[in-house]
Amino acid sequence: MIWPDDYLDRVLCADCLNVLRAMPDNCVDAVVTDPPYGLTDLSLDKVTGVLRAWLNGEKAQVNGHGFMGKSWDAICIGPEVWREVYRVLKPGGHCLVFAGTRTMDLAAVALRLAGFELRDSIGRAHDGGQAPLLAWVQGSGFPKSLDISKQLDRMEYQRREKAIREALAKAGYSEVVWSE
Ligand SMILES: C[S@@+](CC[C@H](N)C(=O)[O-])C[C@H]1O[C@@H](n2cnc3c(N)ncnc32)[C@H](O)[C@@H]1O
Repeated sequence: MIWPDDYLDRVLCADCLNVLRAMPDNCVDAVVTDPPYGLTDLSLDKVTGVLRAWLNGEKAQVNGHGFMGKSWDAICIGPEVWREVYRVLKPGGHCLVFAGTRTMDLAAVALRLAGFELRDSIGRAHDGGQAPLLAWVQGSGFPKSLDISKQLDRMEYQRREKAIREALAKAGYSEVVWSE
């Protein structure tokens, strides 16, 4: 792939490591990303193994199913990817990274090991934004698979049903048997 023609204004469906490796140094102004969180069952042994691999400059090999049962979420993105992100970022460039509340420590370490400085975190929580994190507060099981069109149809159906009930009540029909 040739930079920038094959990259700009495109959605690239690929392993980000391959895509990043083909990019030149210092070519990106900012990175905003929602990478895997690694919400798998991380025992102390597993965490230790992950950290050991990272410190040895290796990719951590973790099997498991994390967020929504996905195997890509077995472990959060490691330094091997962040190093490439760091390389393609222009000097002074920022990277805004979303992390899971349970594994943000590992995400932060991975960024650090790649050379990033942790500069700030963004607050948005039930406490009116006081928490120093851009974080889920009750994030498990959000309705990812919600079909918004069905939800809108349902809301419209309920609105109409209410309007019809009110009109019938006004016309004197108090015992309406509703059948779908
Ligand atoms: C936490 S999800 C992001 C979800 C997204 N923000 C959304 O609302 O749909 C992480 C995404 O990273 C993708 N992913 C995981 N490993 C990847 C890799 N090595 N290269 C590119 N994408 C990857 C997964 O397929 C998943 O879609």
